[in-house]
Amino acid sequence: MRHASVSLVAIAIAATCAIAASVASSPTLSQTVPDAGEDRFVDSVLALLTLEEKVGQLTMAPVEGTQTGPRMPQGGEAQIRRGLVGSFIGVTGPERTRALQRIAVEESPHKIPLLFALDVIHGHRTIFPVPLAEAASFDPALAERSARIAAVEATADGIAWTFAPMVDIARDPRWGRIVEGSGEDPYLGSVMAAARVRGFQGARLDDPESMLATAKHFAGYGAAEGGRDYALAELSERTLWDVYLPPYRAAIDAGVGSVMPSFSAVDGSPPHASTWLLRDVLRERLGFGGIIVSDWSGIEELIPHGVAATRADAARLAKRAGVDVDMADGIYADSVVSLVKRGVIAPALIDEGVRRVLRAKYHLGLFRDPYRAVSTERAGRVTLSVANRAAARAAGRESIVLLKNDAHTLPLSRSIRTLAVIGALANDGRSAIGPWAVRGRPEEAITVLDGLRRANPAMQVQFAAGARPEGSDTTQVASAVALARGADAVVLVLGESAERTGEAESRASLELPAGQMALAQRVARASRGKPLVVVLMNGRPLAIPWIADSVPAIVDSWYLGTEHGNALADVLFGDYDPGGKLPVTFPRATGEVPIYYAHTNTGRPTRSDDKYTTGYNDLSSTPAYPFGYGLSYTTFSYRELHLSSDRIGMGDSIGVSVIVSNVGARDGDEVVQLYLRDDVASVARPVRQLVRFRRLSLRAGASDTMSWKLGAGDLAFHDLRMRYVVEPGGFTVYAGTSSAATLESHFVVTGDTLVLDEPPPRMQ
Ligand code: NOJ
Repeated sequence: MRHASVSLVAIAIAATCAIAASVASSPTLSQTVPDAGEDRFVDSVLALLTLEEKVGQLTMAPVEGTQTGPRMPQGGEAQIRRGLVGSFIGVTGPERTRALQRIAVEESPHKIPLLFALDVIHGHRTIFPVPLAEAASFDPALAERSARIAAVEATADGIAWTFAPMVDIARDPRWGRIVEGSGEDPYLGSVMAAARVRGFQGARLDDPESMLATAKHFAGYGAAEGGRDYALAELSERTLWDVYLPPYRAAIDAGVGSVMPSFSAVDGSPPHASTWLLRDVLRERLGFGGIIVSDWSGIEELIPHGVAATRADAARLAKRAGVDVDMADGIYADSVVSLVKRGVIAPALIDEGVRRVLRAKYHLGLFRDPYRAVSTERAGRVTLSVANRAAARAAGRESIVLLKNDAHTLPLSRSIRTLAVIGALANDGRSAIGPWAVRGRPEEAITVLDGLRRANPAMQVQFAAGARPEGSDTTQVASAVALARGADAVVLVLGESAERTGEAESRASLELPAGQMALAQRVARASRGKPLVVVLMNGRPLAIPWIADSVPAIVDSWYLGTEHGNALADVLFGDYDPGGKLPVTFPRATGEVPIYYAHTNTGRPTRSDDKYTTGYNDLSSTPAYPFGYGLSYTTFSYRELHLSSDRIGMGDSIGVSVIVSNVGARDGDEVVQLYLRDDVASVARPVRQLVRFRRLSLRAGASDTMSWKLGAGDLAFHDLRMRYVVEPGGFTVYAGTSSAATLESHFVVTGDTLVLDEPPPRMQ
């Protein structure tokens, strides 16, 4: 407050009680109806601004990266001084952000503080498992904790706004960005979305350790055709509402502060220009009141999309659709003032966006402390701390999925004297931290090789790259094979490098490249009779049929972050029993995608003994590994799936319980999963859908009873007329260890169809 202008100080003081009240009660910036005191404050600031300054608040300036760190674009400081920039993307560091903030709050006309934004996706400096891996933990508390730690580190670095979580449902692993989300399932995706928003935003947004979160990319980005990034999303409205929108609703209910539109056109309309998606669906129907921030060049891309002829036209369309902040395009800065002066854009469209930006700054407490207690001392204290690394290691262990473990190959014995670690990825710190680790440093990561060496200093660990992750070169295979021959046990690390996943990293083939396949086949032959474990490092499901058939043990380690190698070693040597489950189906071959468990039945459901049923004539129709699948070193059994009644009235809820026992000899974690099927409905419903899950630790020999209540919201869907309804009739409940669970029970809902919501605004 010391640096705020006199006018803003007075307004801020007058509004302090309101701030305290509104922020303390809930940080739900996404509520449509703002607090009255906050509104007064925001309006009084708005009244001070010229049109140019208003557009400045809607402008997010990019930063040019250099070898030595970020630097301002030319003239940036001057723009701040003139009040022509409201936020930055890419400026980090306590000194740099404080220096720019000082110019804003001391030298700009109205002393409005800046917002510093960055993609803090899965950790800031301490890198956590990639979001897809974290989803495999089926542990929302873990996701919340890692988002919180990311916020603590990032805010100490001056960041107040992150472009995460990505909540796009993705059912096509060819799409490289599947790694950034929670996989294929709307329910798991919703639970994880809410957890991450809570973690980033904390209990109070004006806590200097909290930052604004962004749910992205609205909507249907994960449905990009053919898995090709940026391609159109050909979606029915029912699929959009029942599959792709629920995680957005969950993020909004959790109070997410901003939403970013998608690059991919839906029904011919790029979201950055879609009044239907942004106003009718997001604002009106989902009740989102926070900032809509464009994706990088998303406004300008309306031109190549073919819906805008010029930059000014693109600005007009984006403003009309309700995109508040222009990230990096400079289009609003170029065009909006003159468009307003010429009467093309109504001034009210500008004011609505500025209000949202000011409200976000207000909620973040920036008007009271524009520096948000940022200091080098604080950054030094919280960054990459011992506790943060320990949390990353714990998160890594929980995210690992055991895909195969024949003849108890795992855990590896501690008495192994020589261990061969083979595969270039085993020694790749960059891949350990995964894509989207902007401030993460590969050299700070524990690679697979490091982790295995540390796990047992008495063991001799030898390494051979064998083959590069890409390509068909086999010249190094022979030396790797020799290493395998001479070792007591072999860990073979295969997969894709982190650089080959993420944005603009779509793949036409999910199979391993020829070089890695040759390595796998020859190392497997050389390792017969000794423990051989394939460790996958990957940001998407891979098709590994030969490996699945021929290798005794397979562990999916994804990209686990800074502590990758330690977390993996904990699992391989049995210090931790793996309990992660697949958040996305693994196909047998690329040609099988999209493949997901919650498909609808056809009129001729798949049957291996009948040719005239849905499927392929050259491949089994089952996936390699289904959604929810993952083994443990121990064994769990399920019994007594009990319903509180076999008949409930319309609108009533039903109790479900099941007994889970650890019948193996070791303690372990299990993710208990509950699925539901609407047996007969007015539209074809998924063959089953996840409705509840819980990760629990059970001691060897112990049992636990899981109990849940299912209500109308769990049974509802969009009917033929797009009403959100529960229809009477039979339902089947399945409980078990994956989406292939067979323990089932039935109940009937009686009464008339219950309409929970009228049809949403139709696509236009
Ligand atoms: C483009 C990506 O689509 C988006 O997710 C990200 O937040 C922005 N770039 C900013 O880096």
